[in-house]
Amino acid sequence: MSSQTESPSRPAVPATMPAVVARSYGEADVLAIDEVPVPVPGEGEMLVNVEASSLNALDWHFLTGTPYLLRIAGGVRRPKRRIPGADVAGTVVAVGAGVTGFSVGDDVFGECEGGGCAPFLVVDATHVAPKPDNVPFQTAGATPVAGLTAIQALRTHAAVQPGERVLINGAAGGVGTFAVQIAKALGAEVTAVCSAGNVDMVRALGADTVIDYTTDDFAARGDRFDVMMDNVGNRTPKECLRVLQPDGRYVVISGPKKNRWLGPVPHIARKALAFWRASQTFHQFTASPNVEDLTFLGEALASGRLKAEVQRTINLDGVAEALAEIGTGHTRAKIVVMPK
Ligand SMILES: NC(=O)c1ccc[n+]([C@@H]2O[C@H](COP(=O)([O-])OP(=O)(O)OC[C@H]3O[C@@H](n4cnc5c(N)ncnc54)[C@H](OP(=O)(O)O)[C@@H]3O)[C@@H](O)[C@H]2O)c1
Repeated sequence: MSSQTESPSRPAVPATMPAVVARSYGEADVLAIDEVPVPVPGEGEMLVNVEASSLNALDWHFLTGTPYLLRIAGGVRRPKRRIPGADVAGTVVAVGAGVTGFSVGDDVFGECEGGGCAPFLVVDATHVAPKPDNVPFQTAGATPVAGLTAIQALRTHAAVQPGERVLINGAAGGVGTFAVQIAKALGAEVTAVCSAGNVDMVRALGADTVIDYTTDDFAARGDRFDVMMDNVGNRTPKECLRVLQPDGRYVVISGPKKNRWLGPVPHIARKALAFWRASQTFHQFTASPNVEDLTFLGEALASGRLKAEVQRTINLDGVAEALAEIGTGHTRAKIVVMPK
């Protein structure tokens, strides 16, 4: 047993733990459940006993090391981020030097640099917020990356106003299911785009109009929107401009993945150029954790104004199959991992 700080009411922190580990870059078959050391929190960090995490598209990118551009930061030959799971909800079991505002025994949720597919992980204390008591761990663990992306797209970048018309392309995935609800909460009239099998779910989340992209083309309907949030990035710049009002805002978080070296970067750059010449504005960003947005999400979950749409909950044995599903680009809502 280690000597890390422990709550008297909680079990001792073991020296090692089972974790889903990527032994190299590859697909789901490079994942194994290995016994690994429990990490030790450094300055500004906390050790969290993970009750729930969830999987995101970024876990697939870190697993496969694609686009290759990602390997500059993520590890050239082998992944630095070996344990998937960038979402965390759990209980603080040790605090590093310099951490203020949190103590052993606090329930928190937030975003981490991977590690959620294990019973313990180390997280930057500025990347988590207190978990409201009435929000289950499963819900809190499903929320951070996808919820932060949705709120930063719609509130920070698009500054959605009550009464505005918002189009959400890719409404059925992790980000989309939060985005539909957050756009409604901001007072928008929401049109959501997804495939036939997800229409009922997206409507139940509050979308005013749902377009099945397998039978209907939103860009050919003649509708105009104040904001387009694009979670897919599969349409041309011309098509995106066509559906926006002259003062509309386009917020994109994704793009075609065909280019194995650069991923969506060339496509997004072409779009930025097209918007630079137009009256509509272009917004592309990478979501980041901050206490204000996490607190907003926590309060919305606690009040029932927001829900995490969970497709299924798995344990460590189910992670490889779930990540393969995420790699298809057609995951429905969130897959939660409960590692214990
Ligand atoms: N920039 C950032 O900070 C940031 C943050 C989070 C995610 N992302 C990126 O944003 C994208 C979405 O993330 P996510 O977590 O929501 O992914 P996800 O959970 O894997 O969901 C992807 C969704 O895309 C939908 N989709 C696929 N093709 C579509 C099409 N032609 N038209 C409309 N919808 C389509 C799928 O719905 P159907 O099954 O109905 O087709 C699926 O539900 C990913 O590429 C991810 O890498 C970026």
